Amino acid sequence: MSLVLDEHRQYLSDQARVSAFCQAVGEVVKPGDTVLDLGAGTGFLGLLACRAGARRVYAIEAGEVIELAREICGANGFQDRIVFIKGTSTRIDLPERVDVILADQIGPFGFEAGLLEYFGDARERFLKPHGSMIPSCLELYVAPVECPELSDQVEFWNDSPAGFDFRPARSLAANTGYPARFDLDHLLGRPALLASLDLSMATPPALHLEACVATTRGGTLHGIGGWFSAQLSKSICMSNSPLATNPLDRRNLFLPIDRPTALRRGDHVRVMMHILPSELVVTWKVEVWGDDDNRCERFSHSTVQGMLISRENLQWTQPHFIPKLSLWGEAQRSVLTLCDGQRTLSEIEQEVYHRHHGLFGSLGKAEAFVAKVIARYAM
Ligand SMILES: C[S@@+](CC[C@H](N)C(=O)[O-])C[C@H]1O[C@@H](n2cnc3c(N)ncnc32)[C@H](O)[C@@H]1O
Repeated sequence: MSLVLDEHRQYLSDQARVSAFCQAVGEVVKPGDTVLDLGAGTGFLGLLACRAGARRVYAIEAGEVIELAREICGANGFQDRIVFIKGTSTRIDLPERVDVILADQIGPFGFEAGLLEYFGDARERFLKPHGSMIPSCLELYVAPVECPELSDQVEFWNDSPAGFDFRPARSLAANTGYPARFDLDHLLGRPALLASLDLSMATPPALHLEACVATTRGGTLHGIGGWFSAQLSKSICMSNSPLATNPLDRRNLFLPIDRPTALRRGDHVRVMMHILPSELVVTWKVEVWGDDDNRCERFSHSTVQGMLISRENLQWTQPHFIPKLSLWGEAQRSVLTLCDGQRTLSEIEQEVYHRHHGLFGSLGKAEAFVAKVIARYAM
């Protein structure tokens, strides 16, 4: 079973997404344009660009799905216009600059799937001056949410499965973001704009953001909900907001607070957030206060505190640590040095097996290992 194929089926069956990109690409791509489809998947955005009259599309895709994209491109008669390039966009060069860059690398809270880094790199290296990007702008929204079912995922660790004490996990769980699907009933106030990122400009590597919401109803605050709105063209926006009339079929993000907190209508919730997009690190501080009393509750969380890091791996961060290669590292070094532009694959496999037979036990296992290293580093 291919989970990758099913993932792409879901992208293509999301009618809100499909129709937003159809309209936006039709508006932005002009006949004769050159286009980059960054993270092409099945090639959908590149096909739309061809339909809009693109002269040439460079479709970059890191995964094996690129082969399927090639077939789909042929089935639609665009094989003369789409050039497929396998690899990660940041490691690839194009023969020319393009008029339009297209991508849908947008996570539940906008930044998590790499849009800012990959788009930033592609804009610098591949986009013509005055070229266009789809999306052109990304907005992040937050709202205070009441959702006991998500809060229960944190509190789960205070229970005692099979009678054992699992409480050491509770603090990790409270410093973790959770995928969620919010509807209007979850919201305790109108969503506030946390950030508006113009993708035609460089985004800073660290985002320091703040927003404040006055609650529109009383209830229990369990955490902060987050989602995005992406401007695809002048007239087309797509969003996974619970307020959107035609929302994307894409989940939201839930960031818990340490203690469920009672709120009255008109109370204020301030959210301060620091995001390191490329590290996927989010720090969120939440302040809650009412106008007519001195109450002020504060919460502070960070995904850094939610990371599972073994003490073995932690030592790698110490400057005085002296690393040395493991047996697997030695085997990998062998493969890389044997890829000298002279030896055949079969010669490399035999030699790697010969040098490291204790590690592999059979030639077949050595062959599989060589294949993995080669797929990653050779050409
Ligand atoms: C969300 S899917 C979108 C696929 C397609 N563009 C669409 O709209 O249906 C993202 C795809 O981009 C690929 N990808 C993500 N980052 C990439 C990068 N930096 N370089 C190349 N491929 C990338 C993933 O392997 C995945 O197939």
